[in-house]
Amino acid sequence: MHLKLVPAHNDSPFDGGLLIKTYGCQMNEYDSERMVSLLEKTYGLETVDEKDQADVLILNTCSIREKAQEKVFDELGRWKKWKAEKPNRIIAVGGCVASQEGEVIRKRAPIVDVIFGPQTLHRLPAMINESLDLREQKRQNKKIKKRAIIDISFPEIEKFDNLAAPKSNGVSAFVSVMEGCSKYCTFCVVPYTRGEEFSRPFNDVMVEIEILAQQGVREINLLGQNVNAYQGLMEDGEFADLAILIHAVSAVEGIDRIRYTTSHPNEMTQSLIDCYAEVPELVSHLHLPIQTGSDYILAMMKRNHMVLEYKSTIRKIRKIRPDISLTGDFIVAFPGETCDHFKETLKLVRDLNFDRSFSFLYSPRPGTPAAGLIDDIDIHTKKRRLQALQTMLNEQTAAISASMLNSVQRVLVEDLSRNSTEEIAGRTENNRIVNFVGSPDLIGQFVDVKITQAFTNSLKGTIVATPEAEMFASKQYKSLY
Ligand code: SAH
Ligand code: F3S
Repeated sequence: MHLKLVPAHNDSPFDGGLLIKTYGCQMNEYDSERMVSLLEKTYGLETVDEKDQADVLILNTCSIREKAQEKVFDELGRWKKWKAEKPNRIIAVGGCVASQEGEVIRKRAPIVDVIFGPQTLHRLPAMINESLDLREQKRQNKKIKKRAIIDISFPEIEKFDNLAAPKSNGVSAFVSVMEGCSKYCTFCVVPYTRGEEFSRPFNDVMVEIEILAQQGVREINLLGQNVNAYQGLMEDGEFADLAILIHAVSAVEGIDRIRYTTSHPNEMTQSLIDCYAEVPELVSHLHLPIQTGSDYILAMMKRNHMVLEYKSTIRKIRKIRPDISLTGDFIVAFPGETCDHFKETLKLVRDLNFDRSFSFLYSPRPGTPAAGLIDDIDIHTKKRRLQALQTMLNEQTAAISASMLNSVQRVLVEDLSRNSTEEIAGRTENNRIVNFVGSPDLIGQFVDVKITQAFTNSLKGTIVATPEAEMFASKQYKSLY
């Protein structure tokens, strides 16, 4: 598609703002932030929360499960009146539903003006312009048919090359290092909606992180659908894997916390495991989806590993970091899952002790190999299994929170607390929000907090030390590690 020149702010066709609704994974959150930067730069559009203040609506959609997908059409139905109220209003649908259902959306929801995929979001301004042009032509010549502008192709590198770094909250930032997935698990749409694995060049990632660090960011979350498959081309023609990248990021001044998400068990290489011994900036928290505790179901899912191999990886990491918080994703009632297979999942969870994990009922996705399997588990059994698993996972999570009581946790202060005007809030290494009394000057710093109360979704505590405050005051910043 040919990229057109976009207008400068002062001749922006919009006098209202931008409203983005984001569904699904962190990748979508990240993409949405990029859209905000892009549309702000192009049209001077500012994000708003109220329908009436918006001129541009973007739905950044998710198709990982059926429910997520149906939400899009329900949502679109609620915007008809809004669209009709003003002539220049635009509705754009992006993300994985757009990628998979492009033409279907065009037919099923004619109010949509622009349909773009995860790999073409940088072309959004050009597509919006084209849609506005088309609308103008239709005003002048009634015979012209209005139709949505669609571009859901996969031009890979072009996306990263054309987008500015997203805005971070100033303290913690996501950096997308790779996109897509080539694993083709039998139940999953991601390889079809996001395309095959594609890694950003090593230097591009590092430059983005250096800039974020200079802006005061302290925590980097390396992001990818299959992030530990990262293979970033370096200047010498070699490839950097995730372990090399983590080492390099840890050497960036100011960056004292590194996370990465989401990983596949088969890419947990020895050098990545060694990072837990060698890189103190790497948090003691690992999100490593396993999906099921049954080797038979793992094979049916084409996960290409066995339960024992997963356990062995966790054993190696726990040898280095005994307290590491392990979180996972689970799919319950995959076609053919018997009661015994399910019990193996419960056993695995009991054996490994998971922290705040995600569990889902299997949802057949059109076009995936598993969609052709006979699904003969009745809905009551499915729900009972999900309930049993979630009860166990919740109990384990609550026990981990309770075990943090009276401990001292290193917390990265991110913001003012939502609960009280006197409190500030930050995150522990295992990603729990802690609220505590403290000065807003501490935002962006690491502080040590004694945990005094544990709730379901957050913790409360009191500051016992501010190791960085003195260093910053004397302008003698040194890494805490
Ligand atoms: N690596 C990916 C995982 C993809 S989707 C990431 O970036 O997060 C996240 C989780 O959704 C998967 O780990 C799986 O547990 C769940 N999931 C994917 N497809 C599903 C399906 N068809 N039905 C139910 N759950 C599914
Ligand atoms: Fe999906 Fe499996 Fe990749 S769950 S994102 S195909 S690792």
